[in-house]
Amino acid sequence: MSLTDSFGRLHDNLRISVTDRCNIRCFYCMPEHDVEFVPRAEILSFEEIERFVRIAVRLGVRKLRLTGGEPLLRRDLDVLISKLSAIEGIEDIALTTNGVTLAELAKPLYDAGLRRINIHLDTLDRGRFRQITRRDDFDKVIAGIEACLNLGYEPVKINAVAVKGLVEPDIVPLARYGRERGVEIRYIEFMPLDAQNLWDRGRVLLQADMVRMLEDGIGPLEEIPDADPRAPASEYRFTDGVGRVGFISSVSRPFCLNCNRIRLTADGKLRYCLFALEETDVKTALRDGSGDEAVEELIRSSVEAKWLGHEINSAKFVAPPRPMYSIGG
Ligand code: 5AD
Ligand code: SF4
Repeated sequence: MSLTDSFGRLHDNLRISVTDRCNIRCFYCMPEHDVEFVPRAEILSFEEIERFVRIAVRLGVRKLRLTGGEPLLRRDLDVLISKLSAIEGIEDIALTTNGVTLAELAKPLYDAGLRRINIHLDTLDRGRFRQITRRDDFDKVIAGIEACLNLGYEPVKINAVAVKGLVEPDIVPLARYGRERGVEIRYIEFMPLDAQNLWDRGRVLLQADMVRMLEDGIGPLEEIPDADPRAPASEYRFTDGVGRVGFISSVSRPFCLNCNRIRLTADGKLRYCLFALEETDVKTALRDGSGDEAVEELIRSSVEAKWLGHEINSAKFVAPPRPMYSIGG
């Protein structure tokens, strides 16, 4: 069985947000103060997540990514990873984290079977890190990245959000660090998902500008054709053979036509798009004694209702009511 939407796109990729809490406060995601988090009782339990995944696997889901908020704040995440990796049909599990507590948790997560990790880091400058995240945890994140490299995680990727007028000085140093450490930097164009509505087209540092900066600062890049046509990033390699970089360019190169993703929020809502304005409540069905078929039907109907894509580039665009930390990216 497969989850195909009305545009023929096959959905085999599920992103699961395990908490909306976070230990830092990146300005392009969260407000600085008074963040309202979902009450604990509304957060899906490991058992509920596991059941949901088993049902989704019957519908063709093969790949999982755990996200947050900050997923490492969810206690015993390694236990969840072991449970999910044991589900027959799951071929791949990845994690996106801000890395703050990774130095301690990388080992238990590795032992639970995790190998693929994306760590969020926008700058190698301590001051700018503090400015962006409103916290002073730069050294912890670097220690977390190094811990993953030492343990043998593969691939280790770094997600850097590209905000114009702010991170231009970081683009080249990050790529140099990636080349030295064997880490792929993925530059993510700033998207209109921040809690304070600061986004503005003029604040997006575009892929084309970043490619130019990298070529000027390091050397020629060539696009890797069809690295993975269904992955959102466009991938480039340095022509000297050392390292690659990726761009997730929701604004300048929307990739909705290849979308294979659905998202489960920490409070049990299914979203067919990062930018969806509607969502499907699956938590109620997971809690009221409904059978697996009822949950299956909810997943199907969500995918069937999926739109063609976001409209960031049109006047029609309406930002979703949930900011990034409560969707999980
Ligand atoms: N635009 C682009 N990327 C963002 N992220 C968080 N907020 C935004 C935004 N407004 C990224 C973080 C994280 C990933 C889940 O989403 O870098 O790694
Ligand atoms: Fe936390 Fe990630 Fe949001 Fe930063 S972007 S505040 S790390 S959830």
